Amino acid sequence: MLQASHSRLRKHVFACIVVLSVPLIVNVYVTIGFSVKKANALRRNDNIEDSIEAMIDSEDVTMTTPWLLVSRSIANKTIKTAKEFWSVSHSLNICSSSPIMLVGRLNIDLSDNTNFTFHKEYLDIISGGTWKPRDCFARQRVAIIIPFRDRRKHLEQLQYYLIPMLKRQQLNFRFFVVEQNGNNTFNKGLIMNAAFAEVRKIEDFDCFVFHDVDMIPEDDRNIYTCTDAPKHMSPALDKFGYRLPYMQLVGGVLSMKPDVFIAVNGYSNLYWGWGAEDDDMAARIKFKNLGIVRPPLTTGRYRMIKHSKREMNPAKIRMFLLKTVKNRFMKDGLNSVQYKTVFVKLTPLFTHIMVDVGEPPKDTNKITSMMTQT
Ligand code: BGC
Repeated sequence: MLQASHSRLRKHVFACIVVLSVPLIVNVYVTIGFSVKKANALRRNDNIEDSIEAMIDSEDVTMTTPWLLVSRSIANKTIKTAKEFWSVSHSLNICSSSPIMLVGRLNIDLSDNTNFTFHKEYLDIISGGTWKPRDCFARQRVAIIIPFRDRRKHLEQLQYYLIPMLKRQQLNFRFFVVEQNGNNTFNKGLIMNAAFAEVRKIEDFDCFVFHDVDMIPEDDRNIYTCTDAPKHMSPALDKFGYRLPYMQLVGGVLSMKPDVFIAVNGYSNLYWGWGAEDDDMAARIKFKNLGIVRPPLTTGRYRMIKHSKREMNPAKIRMFLLKTVKNRFMKDGLNSVQYKTVFVKLTPLFTHIMVDVGEPPKDTNKITSMMTQT
C-alpha cells in the first residue's frame, strides 16, 4: 500500500518535472534560435544597429507565451549589450592623416608580367568600387572620377596600384568610371561635369578626385584627400622629368571639395578633343582666387602609361577658348552641362556611368561665334 502510494508520488513528481521543464527547454531552445537568427542577421547586414532593430520589430519571434516573454527579456539584454558594443565602435577614432601602413615609394611594374585583373586587396571591395576602413573613421569620403573610353587595360593597371594605396591611406572611397558613349570626339570636361552631377544623385562625398586613367601614382604618401583649395596631386610626372612644366598646370589628377567644384562651375563643356580643358579649369580657379595646393615633388610623383594621343582640339579653338574664360566660366560648365545618362551599373571595382553627350559643333566658326555671344 505504502509502496503503491510512493510509486504514485514518484510518477506525480516526474510528471511535474516534465511539465515544468518544457517551458525551460523551449525557452533555451528559442533563446538559442533567437541568438542564431540574430547572429545571421548581423552577419548579413553591415549595420548592426539596424539589424538589431529589425529583429525586434520583425514578427520572427511571436512574443505571446510567458516563456517567450522571458526569452524576449534575455534577448533585449543581449541587444542592449550589442548596442553598447556598436556605440563604442561608432565612436571609433578618426583615422590618422599619415597611417603607419604607408610604404612610401611604390614599385610600379606596368609590363605584362603582372596579372592586373586580380589583387588580393580586391576581396573586400564592395560592388560599385567602395571600401572604408573598419578600425577607424575615415577622414574623408572620396569619389574617384575617371573619364574613360577604350582604355580597359589602363583602368586595370591604375586600380591595381591605386586601390591598395587608398586602403593603406584609410580612406572611404568609391570609384566612378564615366564613359562617353559612341565614337564622337571625346569631351573630357563635359563628361567629368556629368559624372559630378550623377554621383551627387547617388551619394554624398567630401572630396572629388578627377583622375586621368593613365596616371599611375608612385608614392602612397600622396594622400587622396581634399584641401580647402583645389589640390593638383600630380605635379611630378615622369613624362616631364618629374618637374612641374608650368605653374598653372592642373591636369592629370586634381582633387576638389564639392562646394569648390560648384564655385568654379565645374569644367567647361566646350573643349572637344585633346587639350586645354584643364588649363580652362586653372583659369577658373584663378578668377575665383582659390589658389592651388600641391604635394611636394618627392611624393606627388606619377608614371604616365604610354598611349596614342586622342584627337586634338584645334589650337585656334583652344587659344580662343582660353582667352574667354573670364567672361564665360559662370555660364559654361556644371550649370549648363547637357547629357543623357545611358546607364549606371555597379561592377565589382567601380560604378560605371555611361553618358551620351551628343556631337561636337560641326564647324569651328560655330564655336567662335558662340563664344563671341557670351
Ligand atoms: C595642354 C593641357 C595638358 C598639358 C600637359 C597643355 O598644352 O593644354 O591640357 O594637360 O599641356 O600635357
